[in-house]
Amino acid sequence: MKKISGNPYLKINEKEFLVDQVNLDDLIEKYQTPFMVFIENRIKDNLKSFNQVFNSHFENFKGYYSIKANYLQSICEMINNENFGAEIISLPELKLCQKIGFKSENIIIGGPYLPKNLIKESLLNSVNEIIVYDLDDIKRIDTLAREYGKIQNICIRINSMKYMSKLGVTINHNNVKILSKLLNKCQNIRLSTLTSHYGSQLNNVDQYLKNLENIVRAIKILKENGINIKNLNLGGGFPEATIMPKPQLELIAIEIKNFLLSNQIDYDKIIFEPGRYLVGDSGIFISEITKISDERWIFINIGNHICPKFARCSLRFYNVNRIRSAHKYKTSIAGIVPTDQDVLAKNYFFTKELRKGDKILITNVGAYCLTFSNRFPYSLPKILSVKNDECKEIFNPESDNDFSLN
Ligand SMILES: Cc1ncc(COP(=O)(O)O)c(C=O)c1O
Repeated sequence: MKKISGNPYLKINEKEFLVDQVNLDDLIEKYQTPFMVFIENRIKDNLKSFNQVFNSHFENFKGYYSIKANYLQSICEMINNENFGAEIISLPELKLCQKIGFKSENIIIGGPYLPKNLIKESLLNSVNEIIVYDLDDIKRIDTLAREYGKIQNICIRINSMKYMSKLGVTINHNNVKILSKLLNKCQNIRLSTLTSHYGSQLNNVDQYLKNLENIVRAIKILKENGINIKNLNLGGGFPEATIMPKPQLELIAIEIKNFLLSNQIDYDKIIFEPGRYLVGDSGIFISEITKISDERWIFINIGNHICPKFARCSLRFYNVNRIRSAHKYKTSIAGIVPTDQDVLAKNYFFTKELRKGDKILITNVGAYCLTFSNRFPYSLPKILSVKNDECKEIFNPESDNDFSLN
């Protein structure tokens, strides 16, 4: 069978189009478009590849799934079942992790905004680490940790130095002095880790090395000032697994390891926080053409409200009704948000024949589409989950109303 979109769980032969082992035509017959499908086995495979690659090159590797990529409960449950950790930024995510049963040592939590109740709940739940983006937060955590009788590990997010990024602490001599004083004073916190997250859709090895270089530079400055860091957290940023095949991931792991060796960096644990890599290519939308206009513009019944540009997915489009025809005729695709700005793709290679009602498959929408989706007043799509030859509904807007966390 032939793979579609490089995804081993999207396959066609002369007779059928399979999503894992479920016939896509059967889904299209049963469900009104637009609907979304997640492929459970793909998430499992992606988790396995990620673990395999980094465990084979590092003695002590730990992965934490960046839940903001997709916080649907059933997806997070799959991550937890594989004993992968969770990287979270908010209280609603912490509640979700508790409901699912993530062990506290498998949770790291933090971000640019640490309200008091988030710190409090993190401490009371003995999360593995709190990640701070601002040195002032260290004192706030220490005060509460003392109040609750806890000793809390913290991780400092350092500025990635990429395009004048505003996030994270810049490690310079002035800040190191402040940090040193803070660490002496704050007896209820332990600085365990440094992290730097370089961005999204990082395709080449150099980007990972630049990020690592930044961490190594900071570790050396801290060491000169008597502050020893145990763990390195390189954040996320990996593209969808179909876009970054395993050999490329392997190359990244090898180059990182070699860089650490050549810089003689001692560390206990190396940490990554993948989001998109684990879930991006597990999600598809099925939509349909509602209108065809001049110059091969097609309008489909999905738009940037649910498939947002902001999500930076590697979108691929296929005409399901003509899946065996060549997709080589430039076509532009507009969405249903009533603005000329709702363009999903321009001059995209598509089938010559286009008919109103043709079903359109959009791949690689598993990460960030739902989290960055907005409240534009269209109905939300049904969301299905497929595993082997079984399919179940995991979200129905008529009964579940919304997939937001609260
Ligand atoms: C700190 C941090 N870690 C991890 C991630 C996950 O990134 P990705 O989904 O690109 O792997 C993000 C995403 O924004 C992030 O900000």
